[in-house]
Amino acid sequence: MGSLEGKAAAVTGAGRGIGRAHVLQLAAAGAAVIVNDVDGDEAERVASEVRERGGQAAASTADIATQAGAEELVRQCVTAFGKIDVLVANAGIARDKTFLKMTEEDFTAVWKVHVMGTFFTCQAAAKQMVEQGHGGVLLTTTSAAHFGNFGQTNYAAAKGAIASMTYTMAMELARYGIRVNGISPAGTTRLSATFKGPDGKERPMPFIDPELNGPMLVYLASDEGNYISGQVFGTGADRLTLLAQPQYAHGMVKPGGWTLDDIRKHFRSNLGNRLEPLGVQKRPYPWYDGIKPPAKEGGVGM
Ligand SMILES: NC(=O)c1ccc[n+]([C@@H]2O[C@H](COP(=O)([O-])OP(=O)(O)OC[C@H]3O[C@@H](n4cnc5c(N)ncnc54)[C@H](O)[C@@H]3O)[C@@H](O)[C@H]2O)c1
Repeated sequence: MGSLEGKAAAVTGAGRGIGRAHVLQLAAAGAAVIVNDVDGDEAERVASEVRERGGQAAASTADIATQAGAEELVRQCVTAFGKIDVLVANAGIARDKTFLKMTEEDFTAVWKVHVMGTFFTCQAAAKQMVEQGHGGVLLTTTSAAHFGNFGQTNYAAAKGAIASMTYTMAMELARYGIRVNGISPAGTTRLSATFKGPDGKERPMPFIDPELNGPMLVYLASDEGNYISGQVFGTGADRLTLLAQPQYAHGMVKPGGWTLDDIRKHFRSNLGNRLEPLGVQKRPYPWYDGIKPPAKEGGVGM
């Protein structure tokens, strides 16, 4: 018997890519699954694939970037399977541009699908789980891009917000038996085709099977994972990693507080000599010699 036998799940953005792979893994472990995607044909294709393999699945075309869409998704899961036990907030888009070129539309489009979509779907599912009274599991989707990633101010901000939401939801919802964890997945998908290197240039990537994220997702969704909440895991390819939670790293204390003179005297030799590395690659801090304006007049090309 699969570890999710008798459970009902909904996965957003599941018509292709990592979401589709999550659905196949959840269904193989015995869950009945609502396959959500604004791309209805793809959602239906994945739901049929599950049914052909002997599982239970139905398609949803709700737009989870809206509260009405998120509520519709949860309602459909309850109507179809009598309840919701697992919600996977996976849907995502990218609108990559360098910061100075990024428009409000580029920013809000990404923010709506990732952040508002995660908020709306997790809240709708959590309300239903509280009403059902037997707990549940919310799984969010972040990315190492939230460490900072060239050309992704919108996406990095959204993924950082999702990680922070995950910690907070976990703290608030444990009293209802609801666990909340995030994954930072990897997989070769339509979205990953847009990923660039640290210099902003296209880079060839080896094929990564999106289904390799699924086993950890199933573990977190199953009762075996009932001691885990508020955590983010790097999944996919050969890795399984636990993300360190953000925290203050080093500090200095001075009774009465720090004057500008104190800072001039003590900062550089205590904190200013161990500034944090930036970005996904975590290369050593590059600007100890100062950040200088471009040499030529007229600025740099963008
Ligand atoms: N592919 C990777 O290596 C990678 C790395 C880190 C994080 N992620 C994250 O994993 C998730 C899945 O990404 P993917 O690579 O499979 O992308 P993908 O483009 O293959 O799939 C995303 C799906 O989400 C759907 N979607 C978009 N907006 C929606 C909405 N409003 N309502 C419902 N569905 C919507 C799309 O139609 C699409 O089918 C995303 O959150 C992404 O940020 C992916």
